[in-house]
Amino acid sequence: MSVELTVGTRVLLRRVRAEDEGRFLELVEASSELHRPWVALPRSAAEFAAYLARFDQVGAVGMVVCLREGGDMAGMVNINEIVRGSYQRGVLGYAAFLPHAGRGYMSEGVALAVRYAFDRLGLHRVEADIQPGNAASVRLVERLGFRREGFSPAYIKIDGMWRDHERWALTNEV
Ligand SMILES: CC(C)(COP(=O)(O)OP(=O)(O)OC[C@H]1O[C@@H](n2cnc3c(N)ncnc32)[C@H](O)[C@@H]1OP(=O)(O)O)[C@@H](O)C(=O)NCCC(=O)NCCS
Repeated sequence: MSVELTVGTRVLLRRVRAEDEGRFLELVEASSELHRPWVALPRSAAEFAAYLARFDQVGAVGMVVCLREGGDMAGMVNINEIVRGSYQRGVLGYAAFLPHAGRGYMSEGVALAVRYAFDRLGLHRVEADIQPGNAASVRLVERLGFRREGFSPAYIKIDGMWRDHERWALTNEV
């Protein structure tokens, strides 16, 4: 049975799974300078297990962006905080892994995740909360057509500090 959720030109998306633990933790460790202070990802086996447990496929879907050539994880992208009813929305979380950052893989992977959210999960809206100064992340969502909708001071606690975030979103207009 195929484990792929969706396939692009150079990357594919699949669900993150228990067998990813070793390589995932290695890549997070190698990418710590890139990630801080923008995201906090699991750094131990216990944190990885708690991370996996969040993805019940109803409220949240956890995925990795894998290279079609070789299969290594170029990054991760999650659709979190899925709300149904009148909202039909999810909140994206994503990060590249070194040494694969800066080669267009994440732009393609996040675009696939957005299509997955709209076409397969039937969501109407995806959001991304981005700290002021995170230029690479803003460029990524701008490339995908997101608009900046607002600003929330002290919005998300990352690495022990409440951090301001810009609120970016894209709605499915079809
Ligand atoms: C934000 C983040 C995920 C972007 O990842 P990335 O790997 O740099 O993304 P991409 O490679 O898709 O895009 C980066 C650049 O590579 C360029 N690029 C290089 N080679 C490319 C290729 N062959 N094809 C397409 N684009 C290519 C892109 O055009 C883009 O240009 P830019 O510098 O003008 O933005 C990454 O910087 C990261 O992990 N940051 C820390 C975590 C984080 O901030 N997460 C988001 C929290 S809101």
